[in-house]
Parts: sequence; structure tokens; C-alpha cells
Amino acid sequence: LRGDLLASIQAAAGLDAVEALRVHALGKQGAITGLLKTLGAMRPEERQEQGPRIHGLREAITAALAERKAVLERLALDARLASETLDLTLPVDGVPPGSVHPVSQVMDELAEIFADLGFAVATGPEIEDDWHNFTALNIPETHPARAMHDTFYLAGEHEPKMVLRTHTSPVQIRTMMTQKPPIRIIAPGRVYRSDSDATHTPMFHQIEGLVIDKGITLGHLKWTLETFLKAFFERDDIVLRLRPSYFPFTEPSAEVDVGYSVVNGKRVIGGSEGWMEVLGSGMVHPKVIAACGLDPEEWQGFAFGTGVDRLAMLKYGMDDLRAFFDGDLRWLRHYGFSA
Ligand code: PHE
Repeated sequence: LRGDLLASIQAAAGLDAVEALRVHALGKQGAITGLLKTLGAMRPEERQEQGPRIHGLREAITAALAERKAVLERLALDARLASETLDLTLPVDGVPPGSVHPVSQVMDELAEIFADLGFAVATGPEIEDDWHNFTALNIPETHPARAMHDTFYLAGEHEPKMVLRTHTSPVQIRTMMTQKPPIRIIAPGRVYRSDSDATHTPMFHQIEGLVIDKGITLGHLKWTLETFLKAFFERDDIVLRLRPSYFPFTEPSAEVDVGYSVVNGKRVIGGSEGWMEVLGSGMVHPKVIAACGLDPEEWQGFAFGTGVDRLAMLKYGMDDLRAFFDGDLRWLRHYGFSA
């Protein structure tokens, strides 16, 4: 029995087989267990002789089972380690890395530039109520300025009326209603107007700026815009032109042009051979400050709004706005935005 069992244990190919042998030898109905049971019925002299033999057998088999089990476990571990080896030096074939879309990239850049000037980032909902988008910004129901925006209204009866925000200016209102001045924020985000051609898409991106503090003047506005445009276009020869204009929520209002020069037949920002409009701005209208529950005698400020997509087009020399939202990798590659 000892020889047979030891041979079988040596030959056991897997942990299951070892376990089966253990049950066969040492289990309740096992061969060795059976032998142990016979001891009780033996005469004392016989038991004195057989006892040590049977116990010895049990110990030998128990030890052999444990050893075989250890060997098999080690083999299994070695096999697993061998099969799971990862060769980190192998070349990878052509999984192109993704890239950040030019619009997101420009928004990140702007957030960084303005962070250096002490501006925090604020946000608001894209589905906006009529009060935040128009009324609080001094654009009453009957005001012709509402026609300036070809607005998407939400279908159905809503009280208040809901729109896809036509500009990021409602974030000015939301910020003034919830934060105590001094306020310095920018608000980048999507805006919507019913418009579509090479330079207009129904959805586009704006970035709003708002400063509310004591003693703020047009000079602060001009310096801030100049500093931001120099940093953004990475040029020192940026020339600005503030043109008197009209927005219901600023007074006075100015449209800001940036000078360009013509290099190899292409317009490049910098210099002053020609002018390109880049943003709308002005001193926040006292009525807007009052609508937000602040005292316009105490607090003044400036605001501006500009198209992020337009800034990206100017910086990277892209000419069709619609291509921004086509998701065509060839276009991204052409402008160096994708591998
Ligand atoms: N909201 C204006 C627009 O969309 C831009 C603007 C913002 C003008 C802030 C003045 C001040 O055209």
C-alpha cells in the first residue's frame, strides 16, 4: 500500500489529483483510516507492533501529499509568471494619440492668461431663462436689441420663457447675484444663435469677462484687453482700437478692433495695416448693477465678450468656422492639432 500510494502521489499531475489521493488514503472511508480502525480490535502485542507501522504510514503519506502539493503550486506559479511576462521594450504599432480640440485648447489658454491677472472661472447654464439672458441685462421685452440675437426659444409654454443662451453675458448676472464684489471672473462656454455660414455656426463659443470693484475705469478695461491679447497672440506689437458702439448692458460701450499686417498675402495679427473686430466691451451699465442688487454708486466695473472660435481662427489661420465642428481628423492634422 505504501509503495502504491507514494507512486500515485509522485505521479499526480494536478492539485485535484492530489486531493483525490488524500481522500482515497486519509478520508473517512480512506484506506489508511480503515487500517487505523482495525487497531482497536487487535490483541495488545499485535497492536504494539502494527500501531507504529500504521501511524508511520499515515505520516509518510501526509508528508508526501504536502510536498507534492507544494511542488505543483510552485509549477503553477512559475507558469503564470512566465505567461504574464510583459516586454515593455516591444514596439507598439500605430495607436495615434488623441488631441485637444483647438477650441478647448484656446479656452484653456485664455483661462491661464486670465488666471495670471487674478480672474476666476465662472459658469452658467446653456439653457437660460429670459430674465438672465435679456431682462437683467437691460434688454426689456420690447427692446429692439432682442432682435439682434436670433434666439432659439424652447418650444412649449414655459414660465419664465427659456432660451438657449445667446451670449455668455447672463453669467455676469449670475455672478453678481451670488458673489460679493470685488469680482474678477471670466466665463467661457457655448452659446447659440440661429445663424449659419462660413463665419457663423448655430452653436459657437464665447468668453465673457467681468470686473466689479470700486473706482474701475475704461483705462482698466483697455489695459486688461491689451495685456490679454498680447499674451494670447504672443506678440508685443498688438495695437487696439476702441470704437464707440452700443450694447444695452454697457455704457459707454466699445467694439474693439485689433490691428493686423499682411504677410505673404495673409492677414497676421500685429501691426496696424488693417483692423479686425475681436470683441465687444464697455463699462457695466448702472441698471445692470442695480438689477443684481448692488449699489451702482458704490460699485463700478467693465465687461467684455469675445468669440473663442474666432480667436482660434485668427491665431491659427483657419478660415472656415464650420470645419471646427465637423470632427474631420484631416482638418485637425492640417493645422497641426492631431497626430
Ligand atoms: N454679449 C455681447 C455679444 O454677445 C458681447 C459683450 C459682452 C459686449 C460684454 C459688452 C460687454 O455680442
